[in-house]
Amino acid sequence: MIILGIETSCDDTSLAIVENGTKVLAYATASQVAVHNKTGGVVPEIAAREHVRVVVPVYAEVLRQAKLHIEQIDAIAVTQGPGLVSSLLIGDLLASTIGLVHQKPVIPVHHIEGHIYGNWLERAEQDFQFPIMILTASGGHNELILMRGHGQYAPIGHTRDDAAGEAFDKVARILGLSYPGGPAIAQAAELGDASRFKLPRPWLPGTYEFSFSGLKSEALRIVEKEIRDKKRLSQQFVRDLAASFQQCMVEVLAGKLFRATEDHRVREVHIAGGVSANKLLRTTVERMAKTKGLHIKFPTQIRYSTDNGAMIAACGYFRGRKNLGKFKKWRTILPEPNLALFPR
Ligand code: KG4
Ligand code: ZN
Repeated sequence: MIILGIETSCDDTSLAIVENGTKVLAYATASQVAVHNKTGGVVPEIAAREHVRVVVPVYAEVLRQAKLHIEQIDAIAVTQGPGLVSSLLIGDLLASTIGLVHQKPVIPVHHIEGHIYGNWLERAEQDFQFPIMILTASGGHNELILMRGHGQYAPIGHTRDDAAGEAFDKVARILGLSYPGGPAIAQAAELGDASRFKLPRPWLPGTYEFSFSGLKSEALRIVEKEIRDKKRLSQQFVRDLAASFQQCMVEVLAGKLFRATEDHRVREVHIAGGVSANKLLRTTVERMAKTKGLHIKFPTQIRYSTDNGAMIAACGYFRGRKNLGKFKKWRTILPEPNLALFPR
């Protein structure tokens, strides 16, 4: 089954064509990083305008790469939410239009469920063993999810305030680094001393919840003190604080993920979402999984950690492969900016 995946929930216009939920036949992303770098964050109206400008050429590009005509595609999967409503609208409208004109089923996908399926890309389906404990960490979301089978999720923990990626972005801003903050902090940290600043580890004992706002405030306090004392931030100061902050985030994210595997019997551990691109997080979870005798998976390529259309196509496949008929009647997908994976 061949699925076209469309992701426009924030600032990436990303489309892909994926076969049987795992094999990526074509992939194209138009990134808006250069545009949003000027404002240090995403301005929704500007993001929407950029999506409109590039979405049709990106669609033409994936068809060209796959050497396919749209008639050869079985279904269209598109992010319905959560995300910026004005950005979601563009992808949803494209999906609905192709669905209507070419009479194809359109499968609405939850963005975080999409991230979960980013781990299936370029792997064989038989390599997976449920149950799986998953840490999803991105700019807007931070959850621990127990996955018992395709489409079967139980919430284990979520963040009380900032998501991990949001914390990376905010601390990068405090340090005067570029947007998005995660890769900028990781790069600055390479030449930094992670032991220089003793930052508080927000463990929240007895819960699987996360909280990163105190950590962010502590980073701000340290920076303000440095500016008061020295009038400016030296390059080494920025590198050391970036390294100390990254170390702290990785310890807490990985620590909580593996603690959750002590209370819930699982066979695999996954990390997903933009923060799963982080090299230190990847090597740390790999090492911890080895000591615990658990299988670990993170996206095979960095581009499948951050927002991408391939993960949406993969999710659409696993949601729709047994009951594609159910989606035939879908013509219009209305964006749901606050779509919940676990309605509370
Ligand atoms: O999943 P994603 O692309 O978009 C959302 O769904 O939010 O995640 C974006 C987030 C940003 O906050 C970005 O700073 C973070 O992922 N991120 C990283 C890295 N690459 C992206 N955080 C830490 N280390 C990275 N290498
Ligand atoms: Zn995302």
